[in-house]
Amino acid sequence: MAQTILITGGTGFIGSHTVVELIEHGYDVVIADNLSNSKLEPLNRIERITGTRPRFHEVDMRDRDGMNALFEAEPGIQAVIHFAGLKAVGESVEKPLEYYENNINGTLVLCETMRAHGCKTIIFSSSATVYGENPVPYVETMQKLPASNPYGWTKWMIEEILTDLHTADPTWNVMLLRYFNPIGAHPSGLMGEDPRGIPNNLLPYVAQVAVGRRECVHVFGNDYPTADGTGERDYIHVMDLAAGHVAALEWMLAQPEPSVEIFNLGTGKGTSVLEIIRAFSDACGHEIPYVIDPRRPGDLPASWADATRAKEILGWEAKYDIAQMCADSWNWQSHNPEGYTD
Ligand code: WQD
Repeated sequence: MAQTILITGGTGFIGSHTVVELIEHGYDVVIADNLSNSKLEPLNRIERITGTRPRFHEVDMRDRDGMNALFEAEPGIQAVIHFAGLKAVGESVEKPLEYYENNINGTLVLCETMRAHGCKTIIFSSSATVYGENPVPYVETMQKLPASNPYGWTKWMIEEILTDLHTADPTWNVMLLRYFNPIGAHPSGLMGEDPRGIPNNLLPYVAQVAVGRRECVHVFGNDYPTADGTGERDYIHVMDLAAGHVAALEWMLAQPEPSVEIFNLGTGKGTSVLEIIRAFSDACGHEIPYVIDPRRPGDLPASWADATRAKEILGWEAKYDIAQMCADSWNWQSHNPEGYTD
């Protein structure tokens, strides 16, 4: 009998790609999403890719009755992978109350509902942002430093909440996965990143310039203490990230005892903004115009992972390079110039 896994935020970018990987590894997948930052179309694309349509519940994490009804309708949930949450750094600075209420309260209601239904295995979508101004490469054992924005604080605090849950009740099984910069798309070109409005992140913005939806890339500063002066990040293919979740889940379900484990999911390499623009230009076959703008407040010069722990313990490491990430991102964007259209 296939094990049932609940994916909150499963119609989103990382969530939908992880759903494909889980189905292809024989799991029975249920999605809960409030569609506040995604559409229903990814369900059709998941079905076209895997031949299986995951069961879908439109529900907000904060809706106690709705979450209870979901767990009653899906009695066999073995584990939850929790992606659902607001995630735009800049927006979180403008709307801190919405970010704390949505991300923190949503997680509290999810955990209370899980506990009420006897499910205490959770994988949390955390972020490298919790490392703050630690020196790179970031290692899981580093002291977390203050976040530079409410979005980052919500990731920071939810890690603490889940850790305290296990401390109080060691039957809670907790995995904190710290992502770096997820980019790319499913190789079929049927699924990819489809942010609403003006993209906050670099790659979707570059892809929209490449496909003619936007005029030029705005490079936020070229006076950083880096090789070419532009910000360096650890970009990881979303399919590598999805595979990392399956590896983490399988390791977690195989352990004799519950615990709290932290893993970086990154490549261990830094790539600059200008290097990304050049790689994407190679992928799409034409120049991508850009201008140099002032630095974006809150940005760090460099961020990348020490990815050793996930390799040694989970047996997982990123496989795809920047060229493949850009090629798959371009394949998605060029076949879906307006993103998902319901
Ligand atoms: C990458 C680089 C920018 C846009 C954030 C969150 C992280 C995760 C991913 C959600 C930086 C530069 C960007 C642009 C640019 N959040 N840039 N022009 O800030 O590293 O990470 O998003 O999943 O938790 O912190 O990602 O893509 O915004 O920026 O020059 O139009 O690109 O300065 O150097 P970031 P990003």
